[in-house]
Amino acid sequence: MSMKQYRADFPIFAHRHYINSCSYGALARQVEAAYGDYLACRRTKGADWPGWCAIHEDVRARFARLVGADADEVAVTTSASAGMSSLASALDVSGPRPVIVTTDQAFPTEAQIWHALAPRGAQVRHVREQGGQLDLEHMRELVDERTVLVAVPLVCYRHGALNDIAAIAQIAHDAGALVLVDGFQGLGAVPFDVRETGVDFLAGGALKYLLGSAGIGYFYARKSLIEGLYPAQTGWFAQADIHAMNIHANEPSPTARRFEQGTPSVPALYAAQAGLDYVLDVGVDQIHTHVQALNRALKDGVRALGGTLASPEEDARHGPMVAIRSTDDHALVAALEKDNIITSCRDGNLRVSAHLYNDMSDIEALLAALHEHRGLLA
Ligand SMILES: Cc1ncc(COP(=O)(O)O)c(C=O)c1O
Repeated sequence: MSMKQYRADFPIFAHRHYINSCSYGALARQVEAAYGDYLACRRTKGADWPGWCAIHEDVRARFARLVGADADEVAVTTSASAGMSSLASALDVSGPRPVIVTTDQAFPTEAQIWHALAPRGAQVRHVREQGGQLDLEHMRELVDERTVLVAVPLVCYRHGALNDIAAIAQIAHDAGALVLVDGFQGLGAVPFDVRETGVDFLAGGALKYLLGSAGIGYFYARKSLIEGLYPAQTGWFAQADIHAMNIHANEPSPTARRFEQGTPSVPALYAAQAGLDYVLDVGVDQIHTHVQALNRALKDGVRALGGTLASPEEDARHGPMVAIRSTDDHALVAALEKDNIITSCRDGNLRVSAHLYNDMSDIEALLAALHEHRGLLA
């Protein structure tokens, strides 16, 4: 199937140029049908816990397949924050390793969670950026034998820079620290393998490039680390035996399920299953190649208009989102929306985030509109 044919599965393109996957992926017919299946199940069966638990496990297996992990290394969470908070609750920051190294590229939640550990003794350090890229020399200075965790995004949500995760994992491991990656802005459109990169933890959610829904996230933990971590943020779905109903002890699962908490978001599981299915069927390598080609045309067009990229120029240095500097990013997003072009913004940048369903007509429409609104380009 050519990429062109996939577009027909996303009804929004009959009305609009949707180039906003960094905010929320477009809705596929298959995902819409999955929501319908959930409602049909509610209407006809009322409750189907065995069936829903099977979908839960299926979603876990698909997340695992996406990143080259084993299913028992993946927790199905309700958000990226939920997985990271569960890990935070298991970290020992009162001993010889109180330092958590985060970055100036962190999505708020992924810095706030570490700062929330300050009352328990944590000290949080931020790696700065240099020309839109993380300054790895600065990271080497900050990461030392007192560091418990290095937490970085795969792709920066503000300007799309893609980090060299294998190099960062090496810096962390050389100091005896663990490394966590926030994969939210990349997974589904950027190939990522937990073994090749050597990461210890990976967190994110299903609603952007994984085409699912809000309410479902993933949290990968390397197998050899799981049993040494004892999350205080827990619940019955994190227990070794969910059905034990034992209120006299906390007996966490020997698998990554120990990073889960309560009843999963069942409607969102249906959507996540269908979304993951779609992405895995198309293939992340193919999606990546397609999105890079669209982004090359976008970057050339922005340069020709005299605009300035906030993203790194080189294909290999940014993720699926390309950010463009604006004098008034909110006004630019609103003007584009009037032209039926859906984008988003952060931090003074217009964010354009293509996915498997976009084609050159979206990029051409955007560039034509940016020409009209060039007074808003910085
Ligand atoms: C990089 C990144 N991390 C995390 C989040 C959100 O995390 P959560 O699922 O906890 O809301 C986003 C959402 O926009 C994001 O872009």
